Amino acid sequence: RCRLSQQKERTLGIIKPDACGKVGQILDAIFQSGFKITKLKMCQLTRNEAFEFYQEHQGKTFFDGLISFMTSGPIVAFELMGVDAINKWREVIGPTDSCEARKGAPVSLRARFGKDNQQNACHGSDSLASAAREIEFFFPSVAAVRQNTAKLCECT
Ligand code: PPS
Repeated sequence: RCRLSQQKERTLGIIKPDACGKVGQILDAIFQSGFKITKLKMCQLTRNEAFEFYQEHQGKTFFDGLISFMTSGPIVAFELMGVDAINKWREVIGPTDSCEARKGAPVSLRARFGKDNQQNACHGSDSLASAAREIEFFFPSVAAVRQNTAKLCECT
């Protein structure tokens, strides 16, 4: 048996502000799909934080709308672990546009709980590199937290 294909991966998921009333059903779907939730928190992003998180989309027509929406209320961010977790989680959430999702992937989370391509219920990292960056963004490693604290101490 190929050991590589069994290797576990980590990815970052978000329940967006429009779906925070559906946390129970979404967590249930996550467990049903066989993921392990290894970290989780509820928070509300500041504009600066949302700007940093979505930096790759800066300059796109939808950027302002995306930032306003993602800062409009609480979100739930979590780290998922599982075999092929990045692709698998993106499959579970479905296509970006919830309208498209309802046509092509009716059982996906975006089909079930989203509205359009802005209010689309969930986020998922799209690559190994973005998963690493996004997990570190929401759940900074101890070393990074120490570094920030040291910087703060230098400033005061
Ligand atoms: S792209 O350009 O193909 O990379 O964009 P896409 O993957 O379709 O979407 C990236 C994120 O932007 C959100 N999005 C929007 N927000 C507001 N308004 C509009 N029109 C819009 N179109 C796309 C989309 O929900 C994606 O959010 P995340 O959190 O990455 O899923």
